[in-house]
Amino acid sequence: MNTENQVEKLNRLEFLKKLGLNGASLMAVYCGVTMSSCKNEDNTAATPTGKTVTYDMSTSTFATLLNKGGFYVDSTNSIVVANTSDNGYVAVTLVCTHEGQRQIKYATNKFMCSAHGATFDNRGNALTVASRALTTYKVTQTGNVLTVTL
Ligand code: FES
Repeated sequence: MNTENQVEKLNRLEFLKKLGLNGASLMAVYCGVTMSSCKNEDNTAATPTGKTVTYDMSTSTFATLLNKGGFYVDSTNSIVVANTSDNGYVAVTLVCTHEGQRQIKYATNKFMCSAHGATFDNRGNALTVASRALTTYKVTQTGNVLTVTL
């Protein structure tokens, strides 16, 4: 358990106490919340399909990818593509490994999930909240066109 999780759980406990819960009712609610927060980890790994998706960065839709830190969320194909500071173009699944929410984004030099705050480095490795890495996809660049192979 990391420090961030410990702080979150302490805050939950204090919150429940302020609601007036005590004794057995407090523990029942508190344990129910904390135990459920970790047991739903998504263990489904994406299966490679060989399908390719292209992003032409000379179009306004994908131009944000030309800048370091820029990213594009492709909800149709469940991909997030980012122009990372230290690993070039990286494509990861939109689906978080924590509880399977489709809320992965890129910000401040890392991938993150807005559902419960999981963070992942520029190679998709889990940093906080989630314990498993994001599925990553091969990205190739030809001129201004990125091709992601699923
Ligand atoms: S689903 Fe929980 S942090 Fe992403």
